[in-house]
This record gives sequence, C-alpha cells and structure tokens, in this order.
Amino acid sequence: MSKYQAPKGVSEYFPPRSKLFEYVRDALIAPAKLAGYSLIELPVFEDTELFERGVGESTDVVSKEMYTFEDRGGRSITLRPEGTAGVMRSVIENNLDRGQLPVKVYYVGPFFRAEKPQAGRYRQFYQVGIEAIGYNDPEIDAEVIWVADSAFKKLGLKKFELQITTLGDAKSRAAHRIELLKYLDKLPLDEASRTRAKINPLRLFDDKRPEVIAAMQEAPLLINYLNDESMQNFEKVKSILTSLGIAYSINPKMVRGLDYYTGTTFEFVHPMLGAQSGIGGGGRYDGLMNQLGGQDLSGIGFGIGIDRVIMACEAEDSIQNLLPKLDLFIVPIGQAAKEYAVKLLSQLRIAGLAVDLAYGDRGLKGGMKAADKSDATFALVIGDDEIKNEVGQLKLMSSGESISSTLTPSAIIKSIRK
Ligand code: HAM
Repeated sequence: MSKYQAPKGVSEYFPPRSKLFEYVRDALIAPAKLAGYSLIELPVFEDTELFERGVGESTDVVSKEMYTFEDRGGRSITLRPEGTAGVMRSVIENNLDRGQLPVKVYYVGPFFRAEKPQAGRYRQFYQVGIEAIGYNDPEIDAEVIWVADSAFKKLGLKKFELQITTLGDAKSRAAHRIELLKYLDKLPLDEASRTRAKINPLRLFDDKRPEVIAAMQEAPLLINYLNDESMQNFEKVKSILTSLGIAYSINPKMVRGLDYYTGTTFEFVHPMLGAQSGIGGGGRYDGLMNQLGGQDLSGIGFGIGIDRVIMACEAEDSIQNLLPKLDLFIVPIGQAAKEYAVKLLSQLRIAGLAVDLAYGDRGLKGGMKAADKSDATFALVIGDDEIKNEVGQLKLMSSGESISSTLTPSAIIKSIRK
C-alpha cells in the first residue's frame, strides 16, 4: 500500500479512464456552446454566507454537508457545494446583468459535499452546469432541458429518463404552503422535521423515513394549487419539449436538494445506477438573485454530475467506440532510427496526427508490445532499411494488415486518414 492515499470519498480520474472523463465532460459542454452559453470560471471557495443564504438552511447541503473552515484572516470560507450561488454572486458583482439578457453561462469543475461516500456519491465530484439569467420564459426552460437531453443522447445514452414538475409562481406556492402546513400540523412530527417544515415544508416530501413517507401519502401537492398563469407556463414548457422530441414524465412529488427553486424543475435519472440515480437536475429560481443583493431577475439552470454520467455510459457501454485514440505509434530500432523518428513524429504532430514513440530502446518485441498497449490505430517500425528506402509498413493494429507508405509526413497522413 502506498504511504499516502487520497482523502476518503473523492473521485479521481487517471489513465486510461481519464479519457472517458474528458470525453464526457466535453460532450456535456458542447451543446451548451451551440446554444450560445459562454464559459464562466469561478473560485472553488466562497464566503460561507453566500451558500447559507443562496442554497438555503433547510437543506442537507448547507446544514450537514459543507466543507467550511476559517481562513488565515479569520473569514468563514466554504468549498463550493454547488455552482448556482457562485454564478449569481459573480453576475451581480461584475454587472453582467446590466448588459445583454439573458446572461447565458456554463461552468465545469469540482464541487464538494461532505456526504457519506458510496458508489456514485463522492465528497469531491464534478459537474457541468449552465445558467440562463434574465427572463422567465418557457422557451428558455425548454432550451436548458434540451442542452442536457441532447448531450446525453450524443453520448449514446438511451435509458435515461427526464422527470419534470413545476413549483409555480409565488402566489401558487403561498396558497399551497398554507394547506401543506395545515396538513403537517396534524402529523406527529419530531422537532427537527418541524423546524425544517417551517423553512421549507416541501422538504417533508423528500424524507426517506418509512413512517414519514406513509404520512405524506395524502399530503396536498403543489401541482394542484397552480394559478392560471403558472399552469399555462408549465403547459407551454411541456408542449415545447414534446415538439423537440424530448420525452418526459411528470413527478409532482419531486423535491430538489436546494431551496432556491421556483417554477419549472427537473431531474434526469438513470435506472442502471442504483441509489445514486440522479445524473443531473436543475430548475428555475425566481428570487435568488434578489436574495443575494442583486436585481429581481429570474434564472434557470442545471448541474450534471460528470461522475454519474460516466457510470451511465459504462453501464450502457455507449461510448467506448467513440473515444479518441492515438493515430500512430512509432517503434524505432537503433539510435539512427530514433533520431529519424523524433523528427518525423514532430512533423506529424504539427500536422494534427496523434503520435507517440517507443522510448527506452526496447527493441522490436518490446516496442511492439508498447504499441499494442498504447491502443494506437497504426504502428510503424523504423529501422535502417526503412531509413535507407524511405518506405515503411503502417500496421493496422486491429487486423494486422500492412500498408506500404513513403515515410514523408504527407504520405503517412494520407495512408492513415484513408
Ligand atoms: P444538484 O441536484 O444538487 O443540483 O446536483 C446536480 C448533479 O450533481 C446531481 O444530479 C448529481 O448528478 C451530481 N451530484 C450531486 N452531488 C453529488 C455527489 N456527492 N457525488 C456525485 N455526484 C453528485 C445542483 O447542484 C444545482 N446547482 C443545479 C442547478 C443549476 N440548478 C439550477 N442551476
């Protein structure tokens, strides 16, 4: 066992699996770029208060899972457990909301939650997220969902499911809250649950204890308290999703883990991932920006868990064939060949070919073994004869077939790309 180990519950990606990480991450970002979202790169730590105010004190994320510490200046700092609050802080601080609306940004990076580690649930995990801030427009809700849905489809995933619901507008939520609190009053709840219910009574729908699940069976559902405007808004979102060919089911009991949600909310789940089946989720947040000291602008976004999407791709075996490979692995035999190869490979790399070399004077057998392990598409042995004749054999590793090629960069590229 090595002397040092990674902290408990963190996800790490090293070769060869890091290739999957990179591919999935980039595939999740690609449709966001196509839809006009720009990169926002933010600190991984912020003032603790930002998350307390932004994410909400009734949530597990804030009450139990934050990595909070005092820095050397005595400030309370928290490693970001999610991305939306930080984006809001930056948008307000840098006046992005005073320019063209909606502000459309995407982010990618590590997030931190002190959860009990298990498969698919880590203390450092990775998200790709997007936020569209400025308008409360059903077309934007549908766009945000489309970005996630099309990324999953591009990754070859077939079995994921989209669940949506709406938390309506403030009036609808207020009407429902009165009825729900009345209902909860009659239940024999413990003190902690009562306190949570006071901050956000919807949290009780998310309680995993069997007796609470049973007690909540008949609880009034928000979706039945929507006023006309909220209802029409949700109908519009659903009809756009249908017109875009995005399948969904309605889950009126969905409770997201963060308190800022209003309006359209959604989760993508993958049935092959066991208990940690949420591969991404998000929704609209009407009051967040205002609550954090900015204008009263609505926004919507999502966070997708890269770690879990990788697991979904592995479960469905959907991307192994799509991963980029080395085009060519060169095996030089002898010092002259090594020098020749170094020059050739630099020219090939500049021309855009992914090329590696058998370093370490391993001879033919060792070099070919390395070529095999490199998973390159072609191998090329270079010895004295090849240098003299300026011709070599490009060996297609999958079949063993050889293609004779002049050893100029352009001829090699032509043969490989054929
Ligand atoms: P969230 O649902 O808390 O939302 O997280 C989004 C995704 O991150 C989850 O669906 C899951 O795939 C992944 N995830 C969360 N916790 C873990 C963990 N401990 N280990 C591995 N993966 C995890 C948010 O974070 C919101 N900020 C999303 C959002 C953006 N809403 C509006 N805009």
